[in-house]
Amino acid sequence: MPITIRQIHPVFVGEVSGIDAAKAVTREDAQAIDAGMAKYAVLVFRDQKLTDEQQMAFTRNFGTIEDARGGNITKPRDRRLVEGMNDVSNLAKDGSPLPRDSRQRLFNVGNMLWHSDSSFRVIPAKYSLLSARTVNRKGGNTEFADMRAAYDALDDETKCEIDELVCEHSLMYSRGSLGFLDYSEQEKLMFKPVLQRLVRQHPVSGRKSLYLSSHAGAIVGMPMPEARILLRDLTEHATQSKFVYVHQWRPNDLVIWDNRQTMHRVRRFDESQPRDMRRTTVAGEVPTIAQ
Ligand SMILES: [Fe+2]
Repeated sequence: MPITIRQIHPVFVGEVSGIDAAKAVTREDAQAIDAGMAKYAVLVFRDQKLTDEQQMAFTRNFGTIEDARGGNITKPRDRRLVEGMNDVSNLAKDGSPLPRDSRQRLFNVGNMLWHSDSSFRVIPAKYSLLSARTVNRKGGNTEFADMRAAYDALDDETKCEIDELVCEHSLMYSRGSLGFLDYSEQEKLMFKPVLQRLVRQHPVSGRKSLYLSSHAGAIVGMPMPEARILLRDLTEHATQSKFVYVHQWRPNDLVIWDNRQTMHRVRRFDESQPRDMRRTTVAGEVPTIAQ
């Protein structure tokens, strides 16, 4: 059966049928998915029962798996999943929900802010693939915002004003905005800010998009309060409901998004119950600007 993609939101997001991600994918199918990603920016696949190995193998069709180091505060000895898998669950190594005061859990609350994965890296992520293994009963939707449509809708004056701006991104900015401020010296070094263009252009479609993220906390050459208010205004503009798709998870959903042209956030959920979501990340190829 050939791959078909049906658009399920007025401005982006496609639902894919005709593929089993657990099996080896033909080159034609991988190319069709890549083309779908360039066009729709988010693709939804239903009923994809995957092991971690199958998810990683599927991910490699689209590039190299990103090195996850430097992206969180979880100690290697506390890791629940193998290298190559990003654990975005609320679970400890033994499979039970993390306690309320767990530093790891509180750090992960930052995923409830609008962001683009790995925008705090010099070479930020290309795609993220999120597989729903255990869905939480209450809440936990993931929302996606189309940053191309948001850019297109800006007036010409604003486009002109922001086109060449460069932001500083760090996990300390996103977490700091939630009052998470205590870092070891080693973590401070690990979360050192990187530079990212505020407007970027997609390498395949050529479309421009706003490259926003809660990790963005400063703009080069701009006084801090002015920078922060501009970033807030742009984020408010970009996350209007007309640009947002709300994904309600079913078990075995697989959702892929292009971090270069979308933002996302998870909504609050019942943290006493398990939510087992496993992410693989396709590494980006180039920085958005020289450091
Ligand atoms: Fe994320």
